[in-house]
Amino acid sequence: MKKLTIPDIKARKGDESKIAMLTAYDYPWARMIDQAGIDIALVGDSLAMVVLGHTDTVSVTMEEMLHHTRAVVRGTERALVVADMPFGSYNSSIPGAVKNATRFLKEAGADAVKLEGGRNVADTVEAIVDGGIPVMGHIGLTPQTATSLGGFKVQGKSAEAARRLMDDALVLEDAGCFSLVLEAIPAPIAEKITASVTIPTIGIGAGVDCDGQVLVTHDMVGLFDGFTPKFVKQYTQMRESIIEAIGQYRHEVQNSTFPEQVHSFAMRPEEMEKLKDL
Ligand code: KIV
Repeated sequence: MKKLTIPDIKARKGDESKIAMLTAYDYPWARMIDQAGIDIALVGDSLAMVVLGHTDTVSVTMEEMLHHTRAVVRGTERALVVADMPFGSYNSSIPGAVKNATRFLKEAGADAVKLEGGRNVADTVEAIVDGGIPVMGHIGLTPQTATSLGGFKVQGKSAEAARRLMDDALVLEDAGCFSLVLEAIPAPIAEKITASVTIPTIGIGAGVDCDGQVLVTHDMVGLFDGFTPKFVKQYTQMRESIIEAIGQYRHEVQNSTFPEQVHSFAMRPEEMEKLKDL
């Protein structure tokens, strides 16, 4: 399996075969995602909510993101690994942002970083890209600043807001982003943005006309029992089958039907005899 590169992803702009991206937070999931042919494994800061049990994405730290990125890198052979820069790791100073972005490549083996924001982060994006680190942008609903956006709400619904988003996309392309996540925006606006930039757009709740799609894996396999956004399609209900399996295990332990002989180790009778004398 040939490892995908940034030019491979950029070359998929406008391609009939769209870019498939999913989040991954650990080794087994990274392996499954990679083996299923997903192009980009995103170590999303959604880690905070779907794995670490926080109520928002703001609480996750650099050290936690690095720890999980290392596991995902170990689990992937083909997929490009993009690590989300957590809130506070790129917002206070540009040199600080470059330093933190560098850590994802140098200490965790990621291929690129993602950060949220439009024109407000353009200088930061430019400095990180100048430092040799590929950056994926993220506009629309930006969960790290959801409170200022009025909650987890669709963005760009008015003509003015849509114009702003379209301008942000162009600014981020100019700043050097190699691709752009469009989250929770009206499908016609995502289509316009996709047509106006030369880098691939990856939609989540942004309609079918983006160059690719991303979902939070724990949402699409039905593992997360918090809220499920409208844009999520659940392809399976893993939580229910896992709870059923665990319940069956508990039952079999309690009534001694597990382990069976096939799960146990025997002892030679002569050794058992010897043991009596000891
Ligand atoms: O953190 C995340 O999972 C994300 C995706 C929703 C794009 O940023």
